[in-house]
Amino acid sequence: MSERTFHWAVIGPGSIAHRFADAVAQLDGCRLHAVCGRDAQRTQAFAGRWSQPGEPAVLAHTDPAAVMNDPAVDGVYVATPHGQHHDYVLAALRAGKAVLCEKSLVPNQEMGRRLVEASRTHRAFLMEAVWTRFLPLYQDLAAWLRDGRLGALRGMQSSFCFPAPYDPDSRIFSPALAGGALLDVGIYNLTATRWVLQHALGEVPPLVDLAVKARLAPTGVEAGLAVTLDFGDGLTSQFQCAIDTFAPNTMHILGEAGAIVLPETFWEATRAQWLPARGDSETIARPFEINGFENEIRETMRCARAGEIESPVVPHAETLAVLGWMDRIRALAGVRSPFDDAFPSSA
Ligand SMILES: NC(=O)c1ccc[n+]([C@@H]2O[C@H](COP(=O)([O-])OP(=O)(O)OC[C@H]3O[C@@H](n4cnc5c(N)ncnc54)[C@H](OP(=O)(O)O)[C@@H]3O)[C@@H](O)[C@H]2O)c1
Repeated sequence: MSERTFHWAVIGPGSIAHRFADAVAQLDGCRLHAVCGRDAQRTQAFAGRWSQPGEPAVLAHTDPAAVMNDPAVDGVYVATPHGQHHDYVLAALRAGKAVLCEKSLVPNQEMGRRLVEASRTHRAFLMEAVWTRFLPLYQDLAAWLRDGRLGALRGMQSSFCFPAPYDPDSRIFSPALAGGALLDVGIYNLTATRWVLQHALGEVPPLVDLAVKARLAPTGVEAGLAVTLDFGDGLTSQFQCAIDTFAPNTMHILGEAGAIVLPETFWEATRAQWLPARGDSETIARPFEINGFENEIRETMRCARAGEIESPVVPHAETLAVLGWMDRIRALAGVRSPFDDAFPSSA
């Protein structure tokens, strides 16, 4: 018997929501059922863009309750600014919907804990949309990390920097929208660090030291960070993240016998190189099947249909661990967000 079509709703019809809708439109077993935004015209335009010939039109709402109370909605994709994720995710979990929420899930770990608790209480699936962990290339990298070619793992170096036009009210620079380099892009450096350690060593060793150099924007959010995570025995991950700077955005994974290089935009990489200290280099290319979002969407539907509340690929504990690191980095950078006052740590 074929499975019932999975009905998605989008909250926050901005730029990344189009990529999500494009993947849903090309995947089997699901459709975009509704979209919710604050601006009726923009929301209607999004619904019109992604309505498919021969199918019911995508519903356009300005009231999130219309999505949460619609029994036809199976899953909600939240793609608002970071500071606005928490309330929409909580409402969706309370309504029993499966939730795929854009990174960063929330501005701090305490808010993350509350959402994880809500996922457990309401037995509703929750996953942060860390799509990098689902990319085909990363499956090959995992095999390289496990087969021992690196010898001892020595460290990682990565950058994720882009020069955003300065606008104090934008989601990138506004403290009220939980802007800043860390939640917007640094999360990828941290996630990649944890992913490499998990696949090379089987676990993330405890941090023995954390060094942070920060450059703040006029709004008080971090515009740029240089971070060194120290795991002891000389094993480090060093990265730069910024919203006011250009960088090559590569990742190098360094071992005693060679290096793995992701030569461009490591978080969405389709190409990697193995550069041995001796011998021939090797390059692999693994293109996306659709646009890179397909596997996180499939995983959400698989888990929701199986009645699971979290995925082994991006489990709740992983999201909370990254949020915990980000809390510590922000504290060392001297950045205190309004969300840290509204949701102080209870840990
Ligand atoms: N996975 C990726 O590769 C990727 C890439 C870029 C961004 N992202 C993530 O996706 C999320 C959205 O980013 P984006 O670049 O798509 O942002 P965006 O273009 O600004 O879109 C955000 C949408 O959220 C809605 N919204 C709801 N409450 C809002 C508020 N208080 N202020 C402003 N907008 C509000 C807006 O629609 P209405 O005005 O109609 O409500 C807007 O269209 C962020 O979490 C970001 O980190 C992920």
